[in-house]
Order: sequence, then structure tokens, then C-alpha cells
Amino acid sequence: MVTHVILTGGIGSRLWPLSRKTQPKQYLELFDGKSLLEMTIARNANVADKILIVGNTDNHNLSVEVMKKFAVSHSYIVESTPRNTAAAIAFAAFESNPDDVLIVTPSDHIIDGEFFYKKSLNEAIKLANKNFLVTFGIKPTKPETGYGYIEFEGEDVLAFHEKPDLEKANHFLEKGNCYWNSGLFCFKAGLYLAELEKQEPEVYKQSKKVWDANIAGLLDYDLSLQIPSISIDYAVMERSKNIKVVPSEFNWSDLGSFESVYDYLLQTGHPVDANGNIVIGSSLHTSFVGVKNCLLVHTPDAFLVLQKENSQEVKQVYQNLEIIN
Ligand code: GDD
Ligand code: MG
Repeated sequence: MVTHVILTGGIGSRLWPLSRKTQPKQYLELFDGKSLLEMTIARNANVADKILIVGNTDNHNLSVEVMKKFAVSHSYIVESTPRNTAAAIAFAAFESNPDDVLIVTPSDHIIDGEFFYKKSLNEAIKLANKNFLVTFGIKPTKPETGYGYIEFEGEDVLAFHEKPDLEKANHFLEKGNCYWNSGLFCFKAGLYLAELEKQEPEVYKQSKKVWDANIAGLLDYDLSLQIPSISIDYAVMERSKNIKVVPSEFNWSDLGSFESVYDYLLQTGHPVDANGNIVIGSSLHTSFVGVKNCLLVHTPDAFLVLQKENSQEVKQVYQNLEIIN
């Protein structure tokens, strides 16, 4: 059995004010009237036997609305509060049989090139059946600090480095034997749980406690707060010795920050002035004077003006606003 696990618990805070708690980016119908979640489901339709959506109480209704468009076997895990991806994937694994292969994908990426995507998935499933944790490597084009880096030799992974600083990211780029981690994973449910228990026992223990105590699918809020909030990348991928990488030739963008949104928009013909400045969300005439590579993001209740290179810092703006509100 192959299950497509879709992680849809993130807020996309680096894309504030487009994305926020009540309307995370994976649900915004920005792409020919389709959302990124919808495109994620369509892309994996013929690969998996069923879909397992791991989201939370804030976005569950949004996921249910999207799933009405599909006639595929699916079920939900609804977290009472987000505890990051190590725990979210643990819940999916607890729900599955140990030998089930899980294809774990984010809900908020753009992927083009169906042929290469399916080719990579098929290779990954084969490796997962041989008891490896499989990552998908993307050829890096710049020293992005918001990604994980996979140091490889053939399909073997020598080391995994999550979100390095700029100096290290430059070093990985120069070395030439590093991929970006795409954020997609493939492994048997039982192997993931065994590795999590070994590498990050507290996350395993507290997630199991929450899972075992669930009543009719409701995950207890207070117990959930006991789960350390850590991503699969730090908890398992940086530490496990059982990792393989499938080099991936499909076009990929995680639209994770305004810098990657900017790159994507320019590739797809979005208007840009002579100094590389762009406007998102408004057709009002806008002039940029004396500034380069800036974005003006316009929504009905907020403006954001930013220098493209400072895109990672938008997360901080969002966090500050959460404290004020
Ligand atoms: N259910 C659930 N619960 N989903 C979550 C939670 C949670 O608590 N937290 C995050 N997610 C979902 C997000 O919605 C997204 O689809 C996915 O998990 C990954 O989380 P992000 O927060 O977007 O991770 P990231 O972008 O910082 O880093 C990951 O992706 C990069 C590529 O885009 C890492 O895997 C990096 O190594 C990778 O390069
Ligand atoms: Mg992301």
C-alpha cells in the first residue's frame, strides 16, 4: 500500500500578508483558479492508493472543501495545534501499517514536469521498499538559506544540513556535490517511527501518547503541547544514517519566501520594471524611484514593501504581529 501524506499544517508566514493563519498559501486560488493543495493532489493522483491529509483545526474545513473536487480515497488527521513536521509525520505513520510506503509531500509547492516527477517517485518507492528514508534532491542555483542541503555521493547521502547560514550555503554550492532538499520524502511508516524513536525519543514518546489517547480522531490539545516542536529535517534527516537521495529533474519551486515567488513570477511573465521591482496584488500604477529588486505586496488590509534579498525576514514581521494581536 502506498499512501500520499500531505502536510498542510503550515501558515506560510514568510508570505505574509498574502498568506496567514486564516488563509494559508496552500489554499489561495492563485494559479488559474486552483490552489497549491489542489495541484498537489492532482499531481499524485495515480501514484498512491490513498491520501492522508495532516492538517489542523484551523484549516480542516478548507481541506474538506478542496477534497470535494476529487473522487479519491482519502482521510484526515486533524492536529489540535501544530507541533511541526516530525510529529505530523509520526501521526501519519501511526495511522498506517508499518510496511506501508508513505510519500510525504508539502501542500504548497509548484512542480512542473509530470514525467520526471513520476520517474523520481517510482525510484523513491523502490528505495523505500529496501528500507531507506528517501529524499528528493534539486540542483541548487543560489546559496538559499531557507532550504536543507543534501551532501551526496551517487544515491548515498553523506550528510544532511538543514537551513545553513549564508557562509555554509555558499560553501555547499561551491563543493558541487550538494542538492537542495525538496521537502518531499518517501519511506515505510515503520522505518520512520523507528528512526524517530532512535534520534528524537521525546518527540516519538509524546506523539505516541497523543495518538494513543485520541478519541474519535480528536488529538488532545494539552498533551500535544508536550511534543517538542521540531521538523523532520532536524529531528531525523540530519542524524539518520539510512538516507538515500533521488536526483530530481522536475521543475520545482517551494514559493517559500517572496524571493522564490519573485523568481517564479518573472519566469511566468509577471511585469517588472527596469530595476527589477515588481508589484503583487494590485494593478494601480506604481513607480519605484532609486530602489532595486523590491516587491510591493498589496492586499485589502495590508501592504508589505521589501527588498527581495531580505525575504526570509518576513517571518519575523508575522511573528511580531501575532504578539501584538
Ligand atoms: N500537519 C502539519 N503540522 N503540517 C505542517 C506543520 C505542522 O505542525 N508544520 C509545517 N507543516 C507543513 C507545511 O504546511 C509545509 O507543507 C510542510 O509541512 C513543510 O513545512 P515548512 O515550514 O514549509 O518547511 P520549510 O519550507 O521551512 O523547510 C522544508 O522544506 C524545504 C523545501 O521547501 C525542509 O524540508 C527543507 O529541508 C526544505 O529544503
Ligand atoms: Mg516550506
